[in-house]
This record gives sequence, C-alpha cells and structure tokens, in this order.
Amino acid sequence: MLSPLLPLSLLLAALQPVSAIWPAPQNYTKGNSSLFLHQNIEITYNGAHIVYGGISRALASIFDINFVPWMLKKRGGLSNFEPNLLKGQKWVRKLEIVQTGKDTSNTFKPLAGQVDESYNLTLSVDGFAKLTAVSSTGVLRGLETFTQLFYHHSGGPFWYTPFAPVAIQDAPKFPHRGILLDVARSWFAVKDILRTIDSMAWNKMNILHVHVTDSQSWPIEITTMPEVAKKGAYRPDLTYSPKDIELIQKYAIHRGVEVYFEIDMPGHIGAVALSHPELIVAYNEAPYYWWCAEPPCGAFKLNDSRVDDFLGKVFDDLLPRLAPYSAYFHTGGDELNANDSMLDPGIRANSTEVLQPLLQKFIDTQHARVRKAGLTPITWEEIPTDWNVTIGKDVVVQSWLGGDSVKTLTGNGHKVIDSNYNFWYLDCGRGQWITMANGLAYDTFYPFGDWCDPYKGWRLIYSYDPTANLTEDEAKLVLGGEVAVWTETIDPVTLDSIIWPRASAAGEVLWSGRTDATGQNRSQLDATPRLAEMRERLVAKGIGASPVQMIFCTQGDPTDCQLVLGRKSDHIKMGLVEQLLEHASVKTVLLTAPALLLGLFLCNIAWQDWRIGRMGLRPPKVPNKLPFGLDFIYKNIRGSMTHSELAFWHWVTSSTKSWTSETRIVGRRIILTTDPENIKAILATQFHDYGKGEPFHREWKGFLGDSIFTTDGEVWHASRQLIRPQFIRDRVSDLHCFESHMSVLFRAIANGGALNGEDQFVDMEAGNGKPVDIGDLFFRYTLDAATDFLLGKDIKSLSTPRQEFAEAFGEAQRVQSVAVRAGPLNGFVPRGSFKKSMKVIDEFINQYIEQALRLTPAELEGKAKGDSGYTFLHELAIFTRDRKVLHDQLIAVLLAGRDTTASTLSWTIYELARHPEAVAKLRAEILSVVGTDRAPTYEDLKSMKYLQNVMNETLRIYPVVPFNIRLALKDTTLPRGGGPNQDQPLVVLKDTSIAYSTLVMQRRKDLYPPVSPTFADTDVFSPDRWFHWQPKPWQYIPFNGGPRICIGQQFALTEMGYVLTRLFQRYERVESYMHEIDGGRPNLKAEIVLQPLDGVRVAFWEATKAKSGNA
Ligand code: HEM
Repeated sequence: MLSPLLPLSLLLAALQPVSAIWPAPQNYTKGNSSLFLHQNIEITYNGAHIVYGGISRALASIFDINFVPWMLKKRGGLSNFEPNLLKGQKWVRKLEIVQTGKDTSNTFKPLAGQVDESYNLTLSVDGFAKLTAVSSTGVLRGLETFTQLFYHHSGGPFWYTPFAPVAIQDAPKFPHRGILLDVARSWFAVKDILRTIDSMAWNKMNILHVHVTDSQSWPIEITTMPEVAKKGAYRPDLTYSPKDIELIQKYAIHRGVEVYFEIDMPGHIGAVALSHPELIVAYNEAPYYWWCAEPPCGAFKLNDSRVDDFLGKVFDDLLPRLAPYSAYFHTGGDELNANDSMLDPGIRANSTEVLQPLLQKFIDTQHARVRKAGLTPITWEEIPTDWNVTIGKDVVVQSWLGGDSVKTLTGNGHKVIDSNYNFWYLDCGRGQWITMANGLAYDTFYPFGDWCDPYKGWRLIYSYDPTANLTEDEAKLVLGGEVAVWTETIDPVTLDSIIWPRASAAGEVLWSGRTDATGQNRSQLDATPRLAEMRERLVAKGIGASPVQMIFCTQGDPTDCQLVLGRKSDHIKMGLVEQLLEHASVKTVLLTAPALLLGLFLCNIAWQDWRIGRMGLRPPKVPNKLPFGLDFIYKNIRGSMTHSELAFWHWVTSSTKSWTSETRIVGRRIILTTDPENIKAILATQFHDYGKGEPFHREWKGFLGDSIFTTDGEVWHASRQLIRPQFIRDRVSDLHCFESHMSVLFRAIANGGALNGEDQFVDMEAGNGKPVDIGDLFFRYTLDAATDFLLGKDIKSLSTPRQEFAEAFGEAQRVQSVAVRAGPLNGFVPRGSFKKSMKVIDEFINQYIEQALRLTPAELEGKAKGDSGYTFLHELAIFTRDRKVLHDQLIAVLLAGRDTTASTLSWTIYELARHPEAVAKLRAEILSVVGTDRAPTYEDLKSMKYLQNVMNETLRIYPVVPFNIRLALKDTTLPRGGGPNQDQPLVVLKDTSIAYSTLVMQRRKDLYPPVSPTFADTDVFSPDRWFHWQPKPWQYIPFNGGPRICIGQQFALTEMGYVLTRLFQRYERVESYMHEIDGGRPNLKAEIVLQPLDGVRVAFWEATKAKSGNA
C-alpha cells in the first residue's frame, strides 16, 4: 500500500507559490514571507545617468502596469496567495543599487561579450533590497528581475511579494539574444518597433536585428539619394528618416538593447529597381521560382561598376549615422539565385565558376566599407558555405539552417548567430501565402502548408539548444541566436501575438541556457507556469501576447494539463487499395484492372509531360528504341551483372551529349546527372526539395529499419542528432580500438588468410612475401574494429575463418543488394537466407542492447565518465531506451563503419601495389613522422600530407558510394541541364528520381585541369596531384555534402590512416598479383559499396627481410 504521506507531500509542493522569474536566473533562492513595496521607496544609485530611466520604468511596471494574478492561482484560491492587508504589513522601503564597474563606450554598443550583464539581487525579510552589478546594463537586467517579484493586490493599491527573503545571482549564458524583425515585407511604424524593444528588455533580450530592405520595399531614407526610399517604400511617407533611426537606436540603448540593421544583398534587393532599374536584374521576373524564392525577385548586377557607386553612396550616408549606436551591420547574402545572372547582360551565366569570383569581390568591397565605418560585418551563411566566399575572421555568420550547419561553420572557425528555421522562425507553419488559382497549382499545393511547416510553438522553440552536439571549442563560437519574424503575413496588428510569448521561450534558452544547474534539459513543467505569468505581465503592459494555456490549466497545478504517455494503441488505417478491394468482387477486379491500369498509366505520362512543358525546360532524353525504356532497363541490368556500370553511365552521357539527361522506365521519369551544380542543389541548396523518399525506405526497411540511412525529415533529423555526438573529435581520436586488432591483422597477413583460432601459430618469417587477399582481411579487420567500437565486442572474424555473425551480415547485404537492383520485381527475390541471416544478426545485436538497457541511466552516465567498457551503444542508450531505435541505428552504423573503410583500404592497396614509387614516398613520410615502431597519434595522422593525398586520391577514383539516388519530394527544379544548350534550369516533378554518380563526376576530364607533368590523367591513380591542386567545391564529394554529409568521415580517415601507417611502418614493399587476374584493369563491383570485384591479391615484404636479401 502507498504511504498516505506521499500524495500529501505532492499536494504541498503544488501549493508552493511558483518562482516565476523569466528568464530563470542562474541561482535563485526565495522564502515565503510577504513584503509590500512602499510607493515612497528610497532608491540610491552610484552610477550612470542611463539607469535612472530604468528605475522609473521599473517602478511604473510595479505600480502602474502590474496585474492581479487571479488567473494563475487556484480557482477561488487567490486569497491564500495574497498577504493579509489588515495585519502586520512589512514594507520594502529601500533599494540600494551599486554599480561596481565603470561603463565604457562599448557598454552601449558592445560586440558580443564586451559588456558584463551579470547582477546580484537580494531582498531581506525586513525589507532591504540591494542590487549590485558591474555595468549599467547589468543594473537594468537586475531591475527587470526586481519588478517580477511583485504583484498587484486585489484588495486595492498595494503591491507585494510573497517570496522574501530573496537571493539571486544571475548572468546570461549567451551574449547575443536577439529578434530579427523584417520591416521590408510589411511596414512597421516606429512605435511598433519601440514597443518590441520594450518587450525585449522585459525578457532580457538584447539585440534587435532590423531587416530593413528587401525586394518588396526599401523604407530606409538615404539622404543623398532620397528617390530610393521615396520610390522603394510602399508609400512615399512610409519611410524611416535619419531621426527615426536615431530614435530607435537610442531608445533601445536606454533599455540595454542594441539595434543593428541589415541591407540584404546581392539578392533580395529588387526594390532598388523602382528608383535605379539599371542596377537590378530579374526584377519581378515570372515565374518567380526560377529567379528567387518569392515575388518580386531582383538582384544586384554582379559585374557592374554602377552598383558599386550606388552602394558607396548608400554606405557613406548610412553607416556613419548607425555606427555611434551599434557595433554591427548585416550585409545579407542569403538565397542568391544564380539564374538571375543569366539575365545580366554583363554576365549571362549561372555557373559557380563565373559567379563566385564576382561575389567574392562584391563581399570584400562591402565588408571593407562596413569595417571602415567602425562596424563589424554580419553575413548569412550561404556566402561562406554555398558560395565558398572567403570572409574575414571578424565577420559573424548568421545561420538559418542551424544544427549541422552551425557545426560546420564553427568547425571552420566562424563566429555564429543561430537562427535555426526548424525551431526559431516565428512566421512558419501558418499556411501558404502565395495565391493558387484552381487547377495545377491548387491541386499540387493543397492543403497549402508553407515551406517551413510546422508552426513553432513555444515548446518547440524552447527545446532547441544552439550548442547541442558541438565541441567545447565550437560552442564558444556560438554568440547566441535570434528568432526571426519574416513578415509576409505579419503586420503591426498581429505582431505582438506572433512574437510573444514565443520569443520569451528562446530568450530563456539564450539567457539561462537550455539546461539547468544540474545539467538536465529545462522542463516544460517548470517553464509553463512561469511563462504563463510572463505572458500576463506582458499583457498588463499593453502587449498583445498570445495565451500560453487556457485558464483551467494556468489556475491548476502544472500537472493538471500534463500529457502522461501510457501504452500506444495501434490504429491501423486502411489504405485506398485495401478499401477498393474490400468492396469489389475478385472477378470485377480481374476484368477491369488491366485496362484501368494501362489507361491510368498512359494518362499519367501525358499529364506529367504536359505539366513539365508548361512549367519549363527539360534535359535531353536518353535515346530508347523500345517502349517502356526496356532497352535502357536491359543495358542497366547488363551493366550491373557484368560490373560495367561505369561504361553504362558513359554510354548515357555520350548518347545524350549531356551531363544531365532523362529517361522513363515503365512510365517513371528518371533524371541522371553528373553535374556538380545539380548534385550541389540536391544535397545542399535545395536539400528540402529532395530526399531518400518512401520507396527507398520501403526497399531498405527490412535491413536498415528506420535508421539514419533510410529516412527523411524529422525522423532522419532525430537519428542524426542521436548519432552525431558519438563522432566528435574526442571519440574519433581514441585510436586504441584500431591498434588492438593490428597484431592479428599482421599475423593473418603472414598466414596468407584469416587465422584458424586466435592461438594458431604463425611463422612470421616464412610468411614474408606470401600472397594474400588483403581485401578479405580488411573486411574482417574493420568488422572486428567496428563491433568493438559499437558494442564493446570483438567478434574476432580475423581469427575465425567462418564467423557466424560476419557471414550472416555478408549474406543479408548480398540479398538486399539483389533485391534493390530487381526494382519492381524485388518481390520475386528469394528471401529465405535473408530472413535467416537477419535472425542471426538480430539475436547477436539484441543481446548487447539488453545488456545496455539493464543499466540504469545513472550507471550509464557512470560508465561514460570512466573509460573502460564504454561503447557507442552505451552512449546511445543514455538518450533513448527504445530497442528498435537502438537496433536500427546500430546496424546502419555497422554497415557504414565497416564496408566503407574496408573497401577504400582495399582499393588503396590495389593501387599502391602497382605504384611502388608511391609506396616509397608514403613510407618515407611515415618513417620521418612516426618511425618504425611507435603507434601514430591522431595529430601524426593529420600531419602526414602524403598519407592524406593517398587516401584522397583513392576516394576520388574509387568513391565508396559511386552511384546514388534521391527523390524529388515536391515539384522543383535542378539548376542546369535544360534547354538546347543544357545550361538552363530544368523542371523536376514530385516523385521523380535523380540518379547521380560521384564516380563519373570525379573522373570527368573537363572539370579537372588538363594533363600535365603535375596533373596525371583523371583515370590514373596519382596522389602527387594533390600537392599542386585542390578540387573546386562540389567536384570532389566522396563523403557527400550538405546536411547529410557522412557523419563518420573523420572516423574513417583516422582508421584508414592508422592501418596504412601501421602497415608501411612494417612493410617496405607490396607486390601485386592482380595483373594475372584482371589484366591490370580493375573490375569495379558496385553493390552496396564499391569494391574490387576480384579481390586484392598481393604480397607484403617486411623491411628488414628485403634489406637482408630475402625478398
Ligand atoms: C571511406 C569511408 C567512408 C565514405 C567514403 C563514406 C561516404 C558516405 C556517403 C557518400 C554518405 C551519404 C550517403 C547518402 O546519403 O546517400 C555517407 C553517409 C553516412 N556515413 Fe559514411 N562514409 C565512410 C565511412 C563511414 C564510417 C566509418 C561511418 C561510421 C562509423 C559512417 C557513417 C555514416 C552515416 C551515419 C551516414 C548517414 C548520414 C545521414 O544520412 O545523415 N561513414 N557516408
């Protein structure tokens, strides 16, 4: 039976007044004595003038615009919360404010981190309050907290706190806590902006980023060119004069908020065309989606000196006015659509090669101007990431992709402001604003969700941690974040309810941190009542903030409106086909189905062709002679059966004379491309338009479940968040796991194959120069290392010729690969051995999962702190106890971690064995850096340039995933391949597959420099070329690129580098026997990964033996 004390204690806890300060202070203790605030409170202060305004606003907050918290207390229970007015009132009569430091000019326009915002606040039971802070900004923050201690009494003009004594020490986690307000898409009067600044200060948010111009309007006045705002604004008087701007900035400074402005360019600048049409391309061009993300389009001409003159005048006028009150200026840089420059008479191209240098010059010039005015430039992330523009170390990069992109940016040393649109875009999820007439657009976009669905409720906003998955060094570069208010459908009428109290949620993450003092993620149970109170304070002050919950919830205990998940009920929804079948007789179905299907099939093709024709261009078609693309299918199947896929792709490109082409297979359109611009679009710039797709998921589900490899969208994202931390540098640089299997590998090499038991005697001397299939041994080595790393279990396949798990894993992959190739016929592929193998794999993996789940979270944490026996599985189990998630991710990473490195190592030895000069150079480097015996460190491996060249070159010529595929998730485009010259964008309808080949692209002779003494033909293995050459972005992507870039890249390069170093410390020479087998022409087996078809038969010669003449 339960102790009756337990529910009672819970009840008591629930009745405790909530400590409602928002954002939560870093340290906060409070009591339960009540104090009234005296209207004649004496306030002393030893510092700057600016604080006096803060003091009077704080007093007004308490006495004039406060609220009675009836809606936050139990129904009818307010009187239990409010102190008695009739007896023993104690008063707060004095507030002493002490500023311990001196303000500097940086205090009022700081770069991130330049101002100390910390403060201490105490309130004793006998009514003495003291606020101490280093800077006046810290004092302002403390005053906001002070106001939140007090409520208006329902009995009359009395203001009280029930929390004395109070002690608070507080400081922000991030220096940059901002809101981006777009005042170009909708017009906002100065008073709307000032009101937003007030609310920000109440939430301790300190940066207002004003996106002041865009293609829709240019409201900021440039005194030397009045026509720009006059014509560019929505109405000639809807502008911001220099006085307005100064007022906004000064008003903000008095509230501890810094305002900085953005002129977005060179895209998003169409409004300039209204006054200076000669400077802009693609203004209001249709259909807009070819030229920009939303109407009206318009970008600066990138190769026109008049643009430069114009910007010179804008900046000369504007920046000196902004600089006294702000440390930053944002030069935009997002979503520049390369197609725009095709309309530019001075360029007429959309290729990165042409545009990148022009953009580099453009950015360099504007950033130099910003610096000259004493400001620090901020840019959107596309500038360094998509355009590869080099920016100064001082430049701050704003990321709207967030997550992995922030990791990449900080990894590259950039300071970052995180505005992850999946969490912090406040405009998202409220439906499409583009109008769609009845017909194609209507049908395609129904039910009219917007591009960044779903709506970001405060709970989602609150769940985001801008430094999640970053290393300590990377996290230091995250200055903070901004929630974004893009205003296509937001205006002054709705502004408050859009921003508040959702921005407060981000405000708390940025001030207090996503985790609390115990390191736990802050809980909604704690946050909800505090945020509900913050919302009431905002409403009391005249802000139209949305409610957090209905009054039933806010009046109750937080758990009254809590969702406690019990068992899931399995609702199985019947699909359309099942429903049809249920209602039709077998005979009817048999008679009508074929005709119906053929009709549907033909209509569908005609319908698609018509839509493509209406929407734009297409690439050349692969010349098919037979209907349904049967000859294409035949050639494709023949290509895979004879392992000549590369020749098949060459046939496709030569028969179409294009790097991008299309065909139909049984009615389904497929696009084939080896164009880096298109691959970049699929993987990065149009990432959300393409995915693996449901058919891929279906095909691979039996093997890889719902893992990172088979899913898209949120499910994929969750997997990536889960797995990514395991590949941080600390884990990857632990080389112990690789070393422990090396000695068995050496013995197996000397044995000429896998050992028959760990203890088998091997005569190492006799084994010198013995031929061996090193490919087989690499697959065993990487399996042993991977199971060790993932599960903590060395399965010893190097010393067990027939290891059950290894064989099952191999067989499951074989059948899976056949099934995938069979396409629509995959139902006919026999699955007996697959099922058996999966049973073996599952049983093996599940025993480790069960072991890990037997550990409590505390035991897992304990293991994490000590080293021994701590594995990838343990790490995952800390975050999820869902057996299926653990199972699926483990198999996925096992597959990725084993076959990829094994096959790359196999290819490396294949090539080194026929390039003795490369072996000599590699060995010389290894001996000079690590000598003959010492185990290499992570830093050693990274410092060996020739070793890196060898691996890069192997991955160039034999990329592990040679052919890949993505599915269009919506109607979209690819940037190049359409039209008669194949240089125009092309239409891609939803559900079209895009096949792309890195193998073909990475050997394209036209992309790389011509053959010369320093640059061998692209088909030739030549590590030396990397001394003189760096591939251009997206022309070398063995690890893919964009948000789905390989997670295991560093792990793989470390493992491979380690093995190669260890091998060539010991062996001086490796001799190839492959010429006798394949005639010197390596046969490529492209199943799940690219491997040498005929194995890699070689002999290794130990250095000492060769010297003593035994070789
Ligand atoms: C030479 C070695 C490797 C190469 C060339 C390579 C290449 C790739 C490529 C091309 C992809 C993208 C696949 C796609 O999305 O279609 C990928 C994804 C991935 N790789 Fe690797 N990989 C290697 C080693 C590894 C290792 C050792 C691991 C882990 C131990 C690993 C883990 C992953 C994971 C988890 C993904 C999925 C990422 C996602 O979809 O978000 N890889 N890899």
